[in-house]
Amino acid sequence: MGTSETAPSSTGRIDRLPASAQRFAPSADFTANAVAHADLYAKAEANREGFWADQARELHWHKPFTEVLDWSTPPFARWFADGELNVAYNCLDRHVLAGNGDRAALLWEGEPGDERRITYAELTDEVKRLANVLEGLGIGHGDRVVIYLPMIPEAISAMLAVARVGAIHSVVFGGFAADSLRARIDDAAAKLVITADGGYRKGKVSPLKPAVDQALSDSGSGAQTSVEHVLVVRRGGNDVGWVEGRDLWWHDTITQASPEHRAQPFPAENPLFILYTSGTTGKPKGILHTSGGYLTQVAFTNRAVHDLHPDTDVYWCTADIGWITGHSYVAYGPLANGATQVLYEGTPDTPHPGRWWEIVEKYRVSVLYTAPTAIRSFMKLGRAIPNRFDLSSLRVLGSVGEPINPEAWIWYHEVIGDTKAPIVDTWWQTETGAVMISPLPGVTETKPGSAQVPLPGISIDVVDQSGAPVGNGNGGLLVITAPWPSMLRGIWGDPQRFVETYWEKFRAQGYYFAGDGARFDEDGDLWLLGRVDDVMNVSGHRLSTAEIESALVAHEATAEAAVVGASDETTGQAVAAFVILKQSYLAEHSAEGLAQQLRLWVGEQIGPIARPRDVYIVSELPKTRSGKIMRRLLRDVAEGREVGDTTTLADASVMTVIAANVR
Ligand code: WT7
Repeated sequence: MGTSETAPSSTGRIDRLPASAQRFAPSADFTANAVAHADLYAKAEANREGFWADQARELHWHKPFTEVLDWSTPPFARWFADGELNVAYNCLDRHVLAGNGDRAALLWEGEPGDERRITYAELTDEVKRLANVLEGLGIGHGDRVVIYLPMIPEAISAMLAVARVGAIHSVVFGGFAADSLRARIDDAAAKLVITADGGYRKGKVSPLKPAVDQALSDSGSGAQTSVEHVLVVRRGGNDVGWVEGRDLWWHDTITQASPEHRAQPFPAENPLFILYTSGTTGKPKGILHTSGGYLTQVAFTNRAVHDLHPDTDVYWCTADIGWITGHSYVAYGPLANGATQVLYEGTPDTPHPGRWWEIVEKYRVSVLYTAPTAIRSFMKLGRAIPNRFDLSSLRVLGSVGEPINPEAWIWYHEVIGDTKAPIVDTWWQTETGAVMISPLPGVTETKPGSAQVPLPGISIDVVDQSGAPVGNGNGGLLVITAPWPSMLRGIWGDPQRFVETYWEKFRAQGYYFAGDGARFDEDGDLWLLGRVDDVMNVSGHRLSTAEIESALVAHEATAEAAVVGASDETTGQAVAAFVILKQSYLAEHSAEGLAQQLRLWVGEQIGPIARPRDVYIVSELPKTRSGKIMRRLLRDVAEGREVGDTTTLADASVMTVIAANVR
């Protein structure tokens, strides 16, 4: 099975411009003041572990490490294992102690236009109080805390306070529904949930607390919930239900708490967080990250890749803290570096489509890190909107989440970056914890659409099914060939799945299999070609086909369902569902009505991001003789292409019928 067959065709856009069409060299001006220098590659090449040890020493260690990497029992790595540190101390106290307490840590902008400027001293004070609150609630080393919050400063404080007391957070994206929330609470056996009454989205309050109440009352799983308390931030001002003894207001508890709290050191391998992400089965994987190696790599990459100068830059990463980008490049990387950053609560187009550019102008943002899907939707609205604002403060632009098509790259470069700001297209994953492949601004000559080269200290290859390198110019599977500090340490509660998913395929070579197709071009630059498994990438977020299929078949009208990712101009891929309805339902309802109901149903079950763009009602699904659904053929239909080779189908006529019905 070659990659060209399995990779989603949405990346066909990569080929629109020849690889060599355009190159962008960093300006001499930029290079002169850049954080990263070309010699980083040579240093890391000469001594990989020494290189990472140097980066780790940029952090504050309560007890310095003497070991760098222990890879004696692969795939279970240990980095800096005999060292001890406190992650929150590194993100807060040490900046205050260094005299930077008055520097703004967060420049927060609420969607309705309210604002808060929070200094490092103030954030430290808040986190110390909250750490005392947590300990008062019996939360300590190794306990799990679920955070289900909008993009408000309290979300950052909550993460840091959990880290400070040595507990483990699991942030659940506020867009997930009660069922998804409950599954994550249960899997981690969380003792505490930190939430808000609601947050602002699209001009109105979107409630959160009711979903928590529903998740905790839901007896669907039969088991009693592990949750003892729910800590609630008042943000939306909406009415909420209250369970006496269980629920606590944040503002009540925190004002009563002591502002004194000493950060205890924890071993470098102390778990820091669990973050759930979609895989090829219906059950999300709880990706586990630990402390010292993770913080080392997020801080280093944030400095080198974003060219972050903490004393002069205003940095803005637009990701939600519910995703890995929000963990690594909103919470931990920038704060470990003592940066000043913008945090924005709302949607890009509220109350007007220029809101982001207005924020860039208002705060003089100099480093912007966002996703191709956002860039494409701005591109669709046209350059007149950003042109109304002064974007001259921008000097570095980043992209993450999916391949950025050259057209969007050029638009970002010209319209947002005024052809001056270098663009860094960063490839990484929830599992890698931090950026792995990217240009270094000031060093790398870039090509629109290519993520370029592995970072210093990172070792990547593109191989065939047997693990042999395919060489420049050929497509294959992306692998990481050596351990890295911020690598996942496991899947929560499922070491077997960890080994099988990432390490089994290239066990002989000891490679990590990323699940992406890729190609080195003739110059040795990397082009990412999309997922090679049954995982979709919608707006830079991973969704599993199996998870959406099980939501669809949980609806009483559905007999069978198959889901594929179909290319979409704005979101990269969109969810397309093919559904066979039960005869009894078809007799009583219109197919269109049921299709619409099913779209909403998936949104309620999982969350709006999983809502299918298209639901096609069909009478059969294309299956092989062994009963496996041929998603490749369904993708052809959903993308309006000629249906490909059907010779392995049990019944070749099925596709003719489906294709005819869909058009
Ligand atoms: C998958 C990981 C990393 C944070 C956001 C997504 C795709 C990510 C790029 C890029 C091409 C990319 C890959 C990867 N991806 N960045 N710059 N170029 N593809 O995290 O949800 O863990 O998804 O996103 O397919 O495997 P995630």
